[in-house]
Amino acid sequence: MKNKTKIQQSIWLNPEDSKIIEIIDQRFLPHQLIIEQLKSWKDSEIAIREMHVRGAPLIGVTAAFGMYLACLEVKDHLDKVSFFLEVATALKASRPTAVNLAWAVDRQLSLINGLKNSEEIISKSLELAQKISEEEIENCAKIGQYGLNLLQPLIAQKKGAPLNILTHCNAGWLACVQHGTATAPMYAAHRAGVPIHVWVDETRPRNQGARLTAWELAQAGIPHTVIPDNTGGHLMQHGLVDCCIVGSDRTTRTGDVANKIGTYLKALAAQDNKIPFYVALPGSTFDWEIRDGVKEIPIEERNSKEVKFIQGLHEKNIIKVLISPPKSPAVNFGFDVTPAHLVTRLITDRGVCQANEPSIHELFPEY
Ligand code: MRU
Repeated sequence: MKNKTKIQQSIWLNPEDSKIIEIIDQRFLPHQLIIEQLKSWKDSEIAIREMHVRGAPLIGVTAAFGMYLACLEVKDHLDKVSFFLEVATALKASRPTAVNLAWAVDRQLSLINGLKNSEEIISKSLELAQKISEEEIENCAKIGQYGLNLLQPLIAQKKGAPLNILTHCNAGWLACVQHGTATAPMYAAHRAGVPIHVWVDETRPRNQGARLTAWELAQAGIPHTVIPDNTGGHLMQHGLVDCCIVGSDRTTRTGDVANKIGTYLKALAAQDNKIPFYVALPGSTFDWEIRDGVKEIPIEERNSKEVKFIQGLHEKNIIKVLISPPKSPAVNFGFDVTPAHLVTRLITDRGVCQANEPSIHELFPEY
């Protein structure tokens, strides 16, 4: 197991047993750091569906390892083709909005379909899962550098005062493998000695901001303040936000962005206050098949209990308490779509571009 005090990676292969994948079970952060072992493809499907792991790049990587775990199990199945198809379908359905999931599963499927020998299927599939994981780490590191370059004019305007960045949800290393997407420029700035302060939207209903982003930033020693989701507009009107940086779960080829519910409202407030609204994403988060995000991106609807109950630490136990009247109905859309015209720039692993088709195409000409 990794040294818990130094952990800065969300998923890894067990160093002693290559049949086991280890993850941080994020449901218990920031109060408990629990490492979970995934030993079957079903374990990985549950971990994604029930959000032990979450965040677009990380669920893609977990699904890639899930396909590898399925390769270890395939000998127990007579019809190998339908087994792999069943696993792939279940993994893809576990969280529908982030396209990284389907992208990673499809890469594994096309590799597996081209191989006959079961030992080779196992070794090549593990190799691919590790490659996808490494690629995401490299891509996030590049996003950090491109993002920091993009921020330089804003940093210069601050004349040494901290740059105030607002972020929503958790698009940090917990949502990726290392570095994060939206947080990568923040980490890069901090490493370069640039003073920054991060406004962390709590991100109801599951509080990924208050629980996860705040934990990550605290660990890195980056000044930050947790705010209720409704506070960003007020801060922007009073000159307390210099820019917003968020992640993405699926971005159309025209630059519309699906991200955690509430992102759209921040983009509207940012536009009204002439504050740059940046979206950081690796290439794996583009859905090249679609153009209209509002109409075409599937929005996950989750259990309404997540809205009605809130989780926190009581004395030494993590508990859930009911907020609303027990019988009041609640609705729980996981994501919303921010139209491209509200996005100032996309920060990708290939560089920075405008959120429109020609500009995206210049960076990704092969799609
Ligand atoms: O529901 P979650 O926690 O999986 O949602 C995560 C987000 O919305 C992130 O902002 C997004 O996946 C980008 S991750 C780098």
